[in-house]
Amino acid sequence: MNRKIDLRSDTVTKPTAKMRKIMAEAEVGDDVFREDPTINAFEHKIADMFGFEAGLFVPSGTMGNQLALHMLTQPGDEIICDYTSHIFNYESAAAGFLSGVQLRTINGRFGIMEPSDIEKAIRPCNDWDPHTSVIALENSTNKGGGSCYCKKELMDIRNLADEYHLSVHLDGARIWNAALATVTELSYYGSVADTMSICFSKGLGAPVGSMLLGDQDLITPARRVRKMLGGGMRQAGILAAAADYAVDNHFQLLREDHKRARSLGKTIMQCSKLVIDMNSIRTNILLFDVKDIPVNDALKMLEKEGILMVPFGPHTIRAVFHFEITDDDMNHVNSVFRHLFI
Ligand SMILES: Cc1ncc(COP(=O)(O)O)c(C=O)c1O
Repeated sequence: MNRKIDLRSDTVTKPTAKMRKIMAEAEVGDDVFREDPTINAFEHKIADMFGFEAGLFVPSGTMGNQLALHMLTQPGDEIICDYTSHIFNYESAAAGFLSGVQLRTINGRFGIMEPSDIEKAIRPCNDWDPHTSVIALENSTNKGGGSCYCKKELMDIRNLADEYHLSVHLDGARIWNAALATVTELSYYGSVADTMSICFSKGLGAPVGSMLLGDQDLITPARRVRKMLGGGMRQAGILAAAADYAVDNHFQLLREDHKRARSLGKTIMQCSKLVIDMNSIRTNILLFDVKDIPVNDALKMLEKEGILMVPFGPHTIRAVFHFEITDDDMNHVNSVFRHLFI
């Protein structure tokens, strides 16, 4: 097959023809002067949607996370997060570099932390202790395999944070997937997190763009820090228009991605050379282990059949589903797996 079925990530999608048309027609202005009407309207819309006062359009999820951590901490603080979290594994140690804080990891299950484990990690207030100031959650999880916090789990963590006067940051790069999987209304997230970063460039399929959400008092100075970091953009309404289109038109499509992940999961269950925990498949990300075959060999076998996935550990492979994957692609992927791994 010539076309590759690209399951390496949900960030590989290209803007659709309709999205490109909307981008071309977007009304724009200089956003550093706050004169881009498309961005201004989009920031209001998304903040309202998630139950926050204000939003700040940023180039990436990493910038959204790092701005949040910077605004919520002082140098010398400690942030509690799961050992699989994106801020710990994939943000180039930015929290230490940009904000002078350290990350305290705890071992959750599929990236989901238990309040009792978080509580044990909160430091006493001695001069010599790092100052615990933030609990950082990820929903859905990436390295945790697409798992999600349900509403109650989030509220339990919010209550714990309040008891200890801590802030909660929510990395919601894939909050759209989590909301569908756990039947959570988007505005609920504003009641459990002080700050949240969300992405439009993952399963929603926008080419670029994320947003930091929080109180106006936090977003106003965060705007200045965004500028310091070189994240002040000019006629970026073109990007906000694509993101807005993605929210309105692609959000509900994520349900299909979740079904497709489960469909491959069921096939993998039948494969004696592979191992999967079906309970771990909650959204569009699938992690499975390879038995007896080196991971890179298994990936090469798949690539020969036109299927791309990524290694995610010594025995683990990750597949991520997105809207460019068709029913025909799924039939092909399922039959290749049966052929290679049963
Ligand atoms: C959970 C999570 N948070 C943050 C990010 C960072 O997003 P970006 O690549 O836009 O910086 C990612 C990227 O994949 C992610 O999976």
